[in-house]
Amino acid sequence: MKRWQGIGLLAALTITVATVFLVAQQNPANTIRYPDGYRSWTHVKTAILHPGHPLYDDFGGIHHVYANTKAAQALQKGVTSFPEGAMLVFDLLESITENNATGEGKRKVLAVMVKDSKRFRETNGWGYAAFAGGDPKKQIVTDMKSACHNCHMGQAHRDYVFSEWRP
Ligand code: HEC
Repeated sequence: MKRWQGIGLLAALTITVATVFLVAQQNPANTIRYPDGYRSWTHVKTAILHPGHPLYDDFGGIHHVYANTKAAQALQKGVTSFPEGAMLVFDLLESITENNATGEGKRKVLAVMVKDSKRFRETNGWGYAAFAGGDPKKQIVTDMKSACHNCHMGQAHRDYVFSEWRP
């Protein structure tokens, strides 16, 4: 091998290694993006968990569930399987009771489910993410199965979704 060929090969190898390293750094385990614009999606339901509820520690407060167009249409038809690209959002806020009225406080967390059967085979086609305080930069779910999907497994008969459509 001539000397210049060796240098070329070395340069190519260096670029390849650097690229792989950069891509790996840019793609942490959970690459689900913040659901921009979800406040304009379809509102599905609202519920409040009070102190004393078994899930209060993690989910206490007021939550609103939103669905993008694909998810909303599936919910409205009552289908038991959601199409690829369906997204659902669980928007959890503090609940503040004052003067005999309960209202919204600060956002605690924004939880997201995305249907992508190829990417999320291990969790039956759903990807899960959660943004602390609703901050797009603070995604906190690393193990989708143990943090989220195991509990949603109970809803296997409804494609792992709890919320139902109320006319
Ligand atoms: C201990 C059980 C449990 C765990 C753990 C859990 N969820 Fe849920 N999730 C629920 C229940 C129950 C509802 C329905 C709430 C309602 O009906 O108002 C729900 C609703 C949702 C919804 C709205 C769609 C639906 O199924 O109704 C999303 C999105 C969601 N969860 C995401 C997540 C994410 C992301 C995680 C992990 C960080 C997670 N969940 C962990 C029980 C759980």
